Formats: sequence, C-alpha cells, structure tokens
Amino acid sequence: METEKQKKRVQIYVIATGGTIAGTAESSADTAYCAGQLGLDALLATVPEVKQLADIRGEQLCSIGSQDMDETIWLQLARRVNTLLADDNCDGILITHGTDTMEETAYFLNLTVHSDKPVILVGAMRSSSAISADGPANLYNGIVALADPESRGRGVMCCMNTKLIDAKDVVKRHTTDLATFEGDGCLGYVYGNRAFYNRRVTFMHTLYSEFDVSTIDRLPRVGIVYGYAGCSAIPFDAFVREGYDGIIIAGVGDGNIHRNIFPSAVKAASDGIIVVRSSRCCTGPTCLNGEVDDNRYHFVASQNLNPQKARVLLMLALTKTHDWQQIQQFFMEY
Ligand code: SIN
Repeated sequence: METEKQKKRVQIYVIATGGTIAGTAESSADTAYCAGQLGLDALLATVPEVKQLADIRGEQLCSIGSQDMDETIWLQLARRVNTLLADDNCDGILITHGTDTMEETAYFLNLTVHSDKPVILVGAMRSSSAISADGPANLYNGIVALADPESRGRGVMCCMNTKLIDAKDVVKRHTTDLATFEGDGCLGYVYGNRAFYNRRVTFMHTLYSEFDVSTIDRLPRVGIVYGYAGCSAIPFDAFVREGYDGIIIAGVGDGNIHRNIFPSAVKAASDGIIVVRSSRCCTGPTCLNGEVDDNRYHFVASQNLNPQKARVLLMLALTKTHDWQQIQQFFMEY
C-alpha cells in the first residue's frame, strides 16, 4: 500500500503576467501604486505556505497592467497553457493577472484550452505592499483549488476573495472594492484547504470547445461601440471604414440600438460585417429577436455575454465562419 509520503505531490505551474497583485507602492498606506513590479519569485515569496500544498514551478510571461492585455499575449498564453497541460508533470495552472481585463483573458482561455485539468486566474485589488493586501490569500486559495481533484473539468475559473467563478460568468463590478468579482452565482468557494462546489457549468468550454488557436498568429478584428442617449455613429462608421470583421454594440437595455447608429448597423450587416447586439447593462441576457428583429437584419444577439466577452467569442467564431446564423449558434452554445 502506498504511504502518504510516497503519494505523488501535486504539480502546479504558475504563469505570471503582472497586475496589481504584483504591484508596489511607496508606502503601505498609499493608494497610488505601480502594477506589475514584482517578479514571479518575489510574488511566490509572499505566500511560502503554498509549498505545503504542491510543488510549484513557473515563469513570467509578461509584466503589464492588464489594461494593456492584447490578442498577441492571449494567443501566446493559450498555446503555452495547452503545451504545459499536455505534460503528465503538470496538474494545473495558476495565472496571476491584473483584475481589469481578467474576465476577458479567462473567457479566451476557456474557449481555447483543451484539457480538463484546472486553470485558475488570480489577481488582487490591493497592491502587494498595501496594508491587508489581498493578493497572497487569493494566490493561496487559487492553489488550494488547483490541488483539489474536484476542480477538474469545470472550465477556466477565477479565484478572488474566496469565490470560484467560471470564466463565462465572471465580471468585475466595482472599480476598487475587494469583493468586486461576481458571477450569476459562483461555482463554489475555497475554505481552509478545500474547494467546495455548488454547481457545474453547462455551456461549452475547454475539452468541448471547437476553437483552436494552435496555428493562428492573428485574430480577426472586432471593435466595441458604446450606446448612450443621443449617441453618434462616428465610432461605428470608423470601424467599418477600417475594415473590421465584426462590431459589438454595447446597446442599452436588451441590446437596443439608437436610431443614429441603426442604419449603419443594418448596412454593415448586409455587407457581411458581423454585428452583435450586447448590452451595457451589468447583468441579464441580450435576447435574440426581442425588441429588435435580428432575423430580419441579420444581427447576432450576444445572449449571456457582456460586450467585452462577446468580442472574445466573435473573434474566435470569425476564425471559423462568417455566417451570421452559425455565429448566432456559437453564442447559444458558448
Ligand atoms: C490591472 O488590471 O493590471 C490593474 C488593476 C488590478 O490588477 O486590479
């Protein structure tokens, strides 16, 4: 019989990208700080306790504030994660990331990583040198969750403020609050040295995703246009002029489009540009054929995706097809 000592230790790989979790300030009471300052080793040194949970290796992919995240890094990250997870010596991956665009990176990986091994993103709302910094606890909890066999097959998750939230649902709701990350109900939470799950994700992700970026160097161009009272068609028309492949409208309410933009949207869709209706509302779906007759205008409804995640799915969808009905189907399934 195998003794506790002989049991293989869990192998976790950490990919660091920067963010507030790696940020430093002049003094612990400063609210002004600079993101992405600590390197991977210094970051891990803030939680030596993780060594009791798993063997940890890692690398620094970049050191940026996540406002500067882009498609080139996403493609690099997805390929690296797929390579690492294909190795028997890697049981799961922790990605340290700025919180500003964490939800987009998480969703991109959810659609492009093909493994049931867990991938978890963590960040922090307070810099590493702040009083009561939240980074170390998030890092520790992320590794607890990765080391827990119950975490397999749940898609990419974010672990923030003890919550485990799936990549499709997770959203940063508050600019500065510690409890900023929410979803339509969390998948679970971390308490002590265990992950507790309440539900499973029913949408397609990871192993069941048909999006493959292993040979792609560049993603199709998709822009977002924001809706507001009296809004102008200038940004929408500029994207069209620049030859963008798709445009997401962050419309009002149930993805409604202002009359100043509507004619440009109809023309773009009839010219083969994919126009997706989403909503600037924080929560709720943008429903197909609600107040807008999507079938008539060949618009796509983003369903449960907010504008920034609708953009991620549309970029990937456009690597496979330019057919609006097929793309609508992707928005139903992913
Ligand atoms: C960033 O997203 O890199 C800065 C903000 C944060 O990490 O909370």
